[in-house]
This record gives sequence, C-alpha cells and structure tokens, in this order.
Amino acid sequence: MTHPNTRNTLYVEQAQLISQDIYEDNQFHMTLRAPNTSRNAKPGHFVHMQCDTSIYMRRPMSIMRSDPSKELIEILYKIEGDGTNALSQKKKDDEIDIIGPIGQSFKMKAYKKRPLLIGGGVGIPPMIFLAEHIKNTTKDLYPFVLMGSEIRFPFKTKPSKIMLKEIPDGVIAAMPLLDDWGIPSRLTSLSDFAGCYNGYVTQLAEVWLNKLNKDQLKEVEIFSCGPTLMLKAVSDLAKKYDINCQVSLEEYMACAVGGCAGCTVLIKTDSGDQMKRVCVDGPVFEAKNVVQFNS
Ligand SMILES: Cc1cc2nc3c(=O)[nH]c(=O)nc-3n(C[C@H](O)[C@H](O)[C@H](O)COP(=O)(O)OP(=O)(O)OC[C@H]3O[C@@H](n4cnc5c(N)ncnc54)[C@H](O)[C@@H]3O)c2cc1C
Ligand code: FES
Repeated sequence: MTHPNTRNTLYVEQAQLISQDIYEDNQFHMTLRAPNTSRNAKPGHFVHMQCDTSIYMRRPMSIMRSDPSKELIEILYKIEGDGTNALSQKKKDDEIDIIGPIGQSFKMKAYKKRPLLIGGGVGIPPMIFLAEHIKNTTKDLYPFVLMGSEIRFPFKTKPSKIMLKEIPDGVIAAMPLLDDWGIPSRLTSLSDFAGCYNGYVTQLAEVWLNKLNKDQLKEVEIFSCGPTLMLKAVSDLAKKYDINCQVSLEEYMACAVGGCAGCTVLIKTDSGDQMKRVCVDGPVFEAKNVVQFNS
C-alpha cells in the first residue's frame, strides 16, 4: 500500500510482538518486529495499530526507536481507553496489524548547533527517536532534551552524570538512556518527583534559554511533541526568543492515511491559510505556521 504524501513508503504489515514491559501508571513499552516500518521510519513518524480485531478503529502511536538491522521498532504508550487497554493485553509473539511509517518526519537536514528537544507525556517517544538520530548522524552539536510528566516517567530516572551550568542546582533527574548516549536531559513535573524541576517544561526551557548569550541563542532550534497546551506554550516561547521550532501535533485520527480529512488543522502556507491533515501533511509542522492549536 502506498500513499503519495508519504514518500511512497507506507506499509501494512503483521508486526510480531517481541516484548512488552509495564511501567508505573499504566504505561507500556513495546518492541515489535516490523521490517518495512523499521527500514523506513524517521523521527516524527508514527504507526496506526489495530489494537484488537474486536476494536473497530486503529490507534496512532509514535515510533520511539527503530533498528533496521534487527527489523525492530519500539513504542511507548499509556492506557487511555479500550484500544490501548487491548494493546496492553498482547503477549510475546502475538501479531499486531500495523500501517507505517506514517507522516512527515521532523526536518533534520541541517541541525543547528543547539537542538532543544521538548517532550511532554506521550509526546516523549518522538524526542527519543530524534535524540538518537542526532547522536548517530552528527558531531559537535549540543543537544539538550527536556521532558515533562505529571505521572511517573516511563523509565527509571537517575541523577545525570552530565552537569549543566545553565540549570538550577538540584534539578538533576535525567533519562539514563540519553545520559549513556552523552546527551544531557532534565525532567520537569508539578508532582514533586525527586530531582525534577518543579514547574512546566517550558519554564525550565526558558531558564536555560536565559542563560545563553546572543550568539548561542541564534544556534538554538526547538523540536517538540506533547499535549496541545504544551505545544502552544513551546510555540510562544520560540516566538518570544525568535527561534525556529517544529512541533508534532496530535489529533483524533480515523484513517491516518489522508482519506477522511478527520484530522485537519489550519496551517499558514505560501498560498494562504489551508486545512492540512495532521496524519499525512504532518504530524510535524513549523510552529510559526500553526494558525491555531486545536484543544
Ligand atoms: C500522531 C499520534 C501519535 C501518538 N503517539 C502516541 C504515543 O507514542 N504514545 C501514546 O500513549 N499515545 C500516543 N498517541 C495517542 C493515542 O493514539 C491515544 O491515546 C489512543 O488513540 C487512545 O485510544 P484508546 O482506545 O485507548 O482510548 P479512547 O479514549 O477510548 O479512544 C477513543 C477514540 O479516540 C481516539 N483518540 C483518543 N485519544 C486520542 C489522541 N490523543 N489522539 C488521537 N486519537 C485519539 C482513538 O483513536 C479512538 O478512536 C498518539 C496520537 C497521535 C495522533
Ligand atoms: S485521519 Fe483520515 S485524513 Fe487524517
């Protein structure tokens, strides 16, 4: 199956469940063998999953990691309702019908020197994929990842080994995987978790931005995925500091292949404001082009 808006690389495949781990607060990490999807996935892409044959519509899930050499993809999800609950019941070796990889990825041709990745809640997975891409494809960059969550983080947090003079003392909790890659990360929450910044992820981003000098500020580019209100705040922050910013939007999706127009948002284009489909024209858009963040 192909679609003209998705680089002619959209596949339907029976993915084999390799492992499924549970984290606190009903969050799950799934590894799937999906050869075609893994070969073609880029940061920002997602899969549309049939959670169970008894559930009518598929559910969209971001790809968190992809390893084409092992034909594996990883996703991270939180139980919200029937679909994700059915996914959580899947056992090793079960087959899951997926369509993927879908959408326009983050534009990654020429990273600026200081990519700032901001993920919130179930918007964290694409930031991990992007961080890994930066690690694998670039040198001499200073990426920084900020993640916010009001429930427990879907990984065991640890004090970072990477010190950052721009970040307040005590704000030291990080994602160990990113630390192992040499990429600094910091976590924020209003839920009083140890080592996390007590506030919104955009507030800590602003603390960091305020510590940069004028030249360093020009080297920042923001990439973000998370709840709509957070993306709006990230977009406002980018505007305030005149920083390029790409956001990955979330919308309710039916077909996810561009056919139903059920996922449209108003986007500024060269030929005026137009309704664009989040599934195939996005989910990644330039923040400055999003006319209104749907709630
Ligand atoms: C591009 C994209 C990537 C996503 N990536 C992730 C991810 O990596 N991890 C994760 O936990 N969640 C992710 N989501 C949200 C996830 O798709 C929803 O949580 C899931 O569809 C809920 O289904 P449910 O049946 O469990 O819940 P219900 O609330 O029972 O779903 C009912 C209906 O609403 C739709 N729906 C509900 N919430 C959403 C939503 N936020 N976005 C789109 N449709 C929704 C479902 O498709 C279904 O049709 C993503 C959403 C999008 C659009
Ligand atoms: S979900 Fe059908 S066009 Fe996007």
